[in-house]
Amino acid sequence: PEAVVTGGGPRRAAGSGATVSVADLRGAREPAPGGTTRRHTLTARTATVRLPSGHDVDAWTYDGQLPGPAITATEGDLIELTLRNTDIEDGVTLHWHGYDVPCGEDGAPGATQDAVTPGGEFVYRFRADQVGTYWYHTHQTSHPGVRRGLYGTLVVTPRQAEPAELDLTLPVHTFDDAVVIGNQDGRTVHPARPGAPVRLRLVNTDSDPHRFALTGAAFRVVAVDGRDLNQPGEVRDVGLRLPAGGRYDVVLTMPDIPVALLLDNDRDRGVLLRPTEHTGDDPAPPDTSDWPELDLLHYGEPAAVPFDADHADRHFTVVLDRALTLVDGRPAYAQAVNGRGHPSIPDQLVAEGDLVRFTVVNRSLETHPWHLHGHPVLILSRDGTRSSGSPLWMDTFDVRPGEVWEVAFRADNPGIWINHCHNLVHQDQGMMLQLVYD
Ligand code: C2O
Ligand code: CU
Repeated sequence: PEAVVTGGGPRRAAGSGATVSVADLRGAREPAPGGTTRRHTLTARTATVRLPSGHDVDAWTYDGQLPGPAITATEGDLIELTLRNTDIEDGVTLHWHGYDVPCGEDGAPGATQDAVTPGGEFVYRFRADQVGTYWYHTHQTSHPGVRRGLYGTLVVTPRQAEPAELDLTLPVHTFDDAVVIGNQDGRTVHPARPGAPVRLRLVNTDSDPHRFALTGAAFRVVAVDGRDLNQPGEVRDVGLRLPAGGRYDVVLTMPDIPVALLLDNDRDRGVLLRPTEHTGDDPAPPDTSDWPELDLLHYGEPAAVPFDADHADRHFTVVLDRALTLVDGRPAYAQAVNGRGHPSIPDQLVAEGDLVRFTVVNRSLETHPWHLHGHPVLILSRDGTRSSGSPLWMDTFDVRPGEVWEVAFRADNPGIWINHCHNLVHQDQGMMLQLVYD
C-alpha cells in the first residue's frame, strides 16, 4: 500500500550501475522566449468549506478552497509553484496528472520526493509546453487525500489562439454527500450568447467513471486527456463516459435554446447554459439514460503516429485481479497486479528511447482506470478491435471487467514513474507498480 513516506528521500533510477538521482531530474528554470513566469504558493490545510448550497464539508484543501486554485498558463510560460503544508499530518505533494513534467517534479512520494509534512515546503518548476486540460492532486496517501479535497485543475492554452467566448473548466468531485462541479454543488447556470463558441473542459477527479450527456446541441470532443483529436466529427444524443482521472474537451456553438450538461443522467446535477435574453422556464432536459455511448476508438480520422507499434523494444503485460497479498503487512484478498501487491510487484525496466508495448488484462469484476505517469500512451486496441479513428492518446484508460487493452508509448522521459489504478482505493490496496529507466 501507499505508505506515508516522509524519510529516505527520492530514489535513484538505479538497476545496473545507473547513477542518476531522480532528485536531479528537474524542470527548466526559465520560461521559453516570450513566456512569463507564473508564481503561486499553495498551502495545504484542513478546512471546513461551505459549498454554495450551504452544505459544509470537512475537507483537506489547497488554500482552504474546493477545488484548489485553478492554475492556468500560456504555452511556454514557466510554472513555479511552492507547496506548503500547515496541518495535513499525513503529508502532501503535487502530482501533475497527465502533464509530462521531468521526473523530479512529478510529486510521487517515495519515488521522486519526500512528502511535504507540516511546516515543510517543496518548489515545483516546469515549463508549460504541453497545451490542454490537466489536473493536479496530492499523491501522498492519495486515498483519502484526493477524495477529501486535495485537487485542482491545470489548463494551458496555446500562445496563438482565440479563446472560446465561454470557456468553462469543470472538475467533478464527489464528497460524502455532495457532488461539486467546478466550484458549485448542484446545478450551475451560465449565460451564453446564441452563436457563441463554447468550450467545456470536463475533468473527472473521482475514483469511478462519470457519464456526461449534453442535451440541446450538437458538439465535438476535440481533445482527450489534453491531447487534440484529429478531425473529430459533430455528434449529438450520445453519452460520454469519462474515466477516473480523465479529461474531455467538448466544443459547441451555443444555440438559441438552453443546453444542459447532465452528470450521470441526473437532471439536478450538471451545468445549464442559458441563452442570454432567454425568458420563461427552462425546459426539462430529456431522459438521457438510454443514449448510446460515444466510442472514442472509432471517432475522428486516422493520422500518422510517431512510431510503428508493431516493432516494440519491450512488451509488458499486467493482469488485474484480486489476489491474496500483503496489505499493511497482513495477508488480505486485495486488488493485485499479476497476483501481487505493491511494493512486491517487480519494476518494469526500460531504456531511454525504447518503444514499449503494454497490455492490460482485467480479469476482475471491477473497472480499473489505468494510469501511467510521465508518458501519454497511444491506444492500439481493445479486446482485439483496433482503434480506427483519430490517434487516441490517453493518460488514463478505463479497463472494464473482462477487457484487454493494448497500448504503446515511447520511453522518452527518464526516471522512476508510478503506474497504477486510478481508483485510488485500489491503488491504496496495492494496485501500483513502477516503470524504471535502467
Ligand atoms: Cu492522478 Cu498517480 O495519479
Ligand atoms: Cu482498479
